[in-house]
Amino acid sequence: MADESQKWVLLVTARTPTNIAVIKYWGKRDEKLILPVNDSISVTLDPDHLCTTTTVAVSPTFDHDRMWLNGKEISLSGGRFQSCLRELRSRAGDVEDKEKGIKISKEDWGKLHIHIASYNNFPTAAGLASSAAGLACFVFSLAKLMNVNEDQSKLSAIARQGSGSACRSLYGGFVKWIMGKEENGSDSVAVQLADEKHWDELVIIVAVVSSRQKETSSTSGMRETVETSLLLQHRAKEVVPKRILKMEEAIRNRDFASFAQLTCADSNQFHAVCLDTSPPIFYMNDTSHRIISLVEKWNRAEGTPQVAYTFDAGPNAVMIAHNRKVAGLLLQRLLYHFPPNTDADLSSYIVGDKSILQDAG
Ligand code: DP6
Repeated sequence: MADESQKWVLLVTARTPTNIAVIKYWGKRDEKLILPVNDSISVTLDPDHLCTTTTVAVSPTFDHDRMWLNGKEISLSGGRFQSCLRELRSRAGDVEDKEKGIKISKEDWGKLHIHIASYNNFPTAAGLASSAAGLACFVFSLAKLMNVNEDQSKLSAIARQGSGSACRSLYGGFVKWIMGKEENGSDSVAVQLADEKHWDELVIIVAVVSSRQKETSSTSGMRETVETSLLLQHRAKEVVPKRILKMEEAIRNRDFASFAQLTCADSNQFHAVCLDTSPPIFYMNDTSHRIISLVEKWNRAEGTPQVAYTFDAGPNAVMIAHNRKVAGLLLQRLLYHFPPNTDADLSSYIVGDKSILQDAG
């Protein structure tokens, strides 16, 4: 192990975008390992607008593991962080930086402590999948620092144990999280369906309806749904498996009409399942409903869908436009009907593309 008197610090910085599910994950069959009740499919977003940047550091002078999120220290004692750290430490490799005279053997990682500083460039815990980007970045940056020699799919299984949706953020483009069958979760991994260049005319517009933290976290919301909703069982067994096949086909064929129909229907069913939970969970608000109506009316008037909408565990709308021209028109209409910051309804818009995982280290 490196001499304790040495005052070196080894750093890695990585950037990981968030992802938005077009076929939703909602409900776990195993809470500890984070194993879902159905497959899900997502689009990874442009990291310039919605991403987490994380710097991880190791030094013999650190006396315990510490983490800061958006400048505020948070506890790392939670089971999820600890599961990821345990998995990563057990797979860590030898690291050498000849220039700095640093040599860390794989056994040293069990004794060395790390510091993690993470920053989201978008509202945290407001239903914009901040945990997906955050935990994916946590795992990705530490895996680099610790020289973990595993492929993306193995890393996705580690990120999954931090937050389910995080496993999908380890890939760009269109990503499927396969629910898997094994009890130990070894086959519950993310795979890339198509890379970021595929279907690159799609444009994503996020309407930040509220940047407040949600009242019911995804984790507790889905636990209550699993315990009380009969509709969830129907969804997981009967609806989603068929939808996944159709969605894969729509993505492969760049079939926007099917893509939009499936995306909107799945978002609506997810929120119906939330309503079917006891006590019911309301993630969308009046503004969300008005945005749905606007898009539905437009799509009907056009004869074929031009815009898809989807809402996660919060009121913010994620809209996917067929192409740049449609995105321009959509933005015009949104700005007319929902001008940002004129009342409390809507604070801002974020416009971006699908993109790839970017490593700023
Ligand atoms: C509505 O991944 O945040 O965004 O696994 O408990 O951390 P945990 O939940 P999380 O849930 C995301 C739910 C969703 C749908 C989705 O992203 O598929």
